[in-house]
Amino acid sequence: MNKDKLRSVAKAIVAKQKGVLAADESNPTIKKRFDLIKVESTEENRRRYREILFTTEGIERYIGGVILFDETLRQGTRDGTPFAELLSSRGIVPGIKVDKGAKALALYPEEKITEGLDGLRERLVEYKQMGAKFAKWRAVIEINERDVPTTFGIRANAHGLARYAALCQELDIVPIVEPEILMDGAHDIERCEVVTSKVLEAVFTELDAHRVLFEGMLLKPNMVIPGIKCARQESVQRVAEATIRCLARYVPAAVPGIVFLSGGQSAEDATDHLNSINMMGPHPWQVSFSYGRALQAPVLAAWKGLEGNLSAAQETFLKRCQLNGLARDGKYARSMETAG
Ligand code: 13P
Repeated sequence: MNKDKLRSVAKAIVAKQKGVLAADESNPTIKKRFDLIKVESTEENRRRYREILFTTEGIERYIGGVILFDETLRQGTRDGTPFAELLSSRGIVPGIKVDKGAKALALYPEEKITEGLDGLRERLVEYKQMGAKFAKWRAVIEINERDVPTTFGIRANAHGLARYAALCQELDIVPIVEPEILMDGAHDIERCEVVTSKVLEAVFTELDAHRVLFEGMLLKPNMVIPGIKCARQESVQRVAEATIRCLARYVPAAVPGIVFLSGGQSAEDATDHLNSINMMGPHPWQVSFSYGRALQAPVLAAWKGLEGNLSAAQETFLKRCQLNGLARDGKYARSMETAG
C-alpha cells in the first residue's frame, strides 16, 4: 500500500471547490433515467450521454472525480479517446463502481447485502490498468416502521464495505465507502439520525479492524433527513444541524473528505443542504458532493436525447456544477437558481 499516493488522490478529488460526479448508473438504472425522457437505452445513447457530460467545458473547476460504470470505462469519445484518458487530461480523476448491486440478505427478508467481493481483486487490477484511481461500493440500508435495519444487517454491510476498501487500498486505489440509508419510507429525522449513527459506527469499526487507512479513503454518506413519506419535513437548517452532529460523532478527523449522495432530493435541496452544512464549518474533513441525480436530472431534462439540445444540456450541467462548487464553500444562495 502506497500511503502517500492514496492520500494525495483522495485529497485531489475533494480539492477546493470540487466534488464528485456520480455517473456510474448500472444499465438497468440508466434505463430508468432514459425512460423518463423517452430515450432508448442503447449502448451508443449511453455513450453519447456520458460524452456530453464529460466534454462540458469548465466542469474541471468543480469536478475532482467522476465515478464510471464498467461499460463506460471501456468507452470513449466519438474520436476514440477513452473516457478515462479524457477525464485525466482535464485534471479530473476517473473512478469506477465495483459493487455488483444490493441483493436480498438471506434469512433477513427485509434487508439487503451488497455483492461483488468474489474476484474483486482481479477486477481492480484490470480497472487500474484502464486508468481508474478510485472506486465506489454502495451498501443499501432501508428503514421501516418495525425493527429494520437489524444490528446484523448493519454489521454484514459494514463488513462488506471494509473488505472492499481493504482490497482497493492494497492496489493503491482510493475507496469511496458508501453506506446509504434510503430516504424511502415515513421515518422522521430523529430515526434517520439514530440509524445513520449506528451505521457509521459499525462502518468505522470494521474499516479499522480491516486496517484501512482513513487518510486514503472518502466517505459517501446520506444526509440526516426525514423519509419522503414523513409528515414532518424539516428545514434546511435542521437537516444540516442533524447531519453535522451525527458526522462529528462518528467520522474520524483523519478522513480527508465526506462526499454526500443526493439520494432522491431535488437538485436545489441537495445544493442548499450542502451549503448550509458548510456554513456551519470549518469541519475536520472537506465536505462536498458526490451527486448522481442532483447533478444529472436537470441535464437529462434539458437534453431529451436530441443533438439540438446539446448546448442547453451542457449549460445546465455546468450551472449545477458551479452551484454545488459554491455550496461546497458555503457560498450558495437559493436566489442563484433563477439568476441568469
Ligand atoms: P444519487 O446522488 O442519485 O443518490 O447517486 C449517488 C450515487 O452514486 C448512489 O450510489
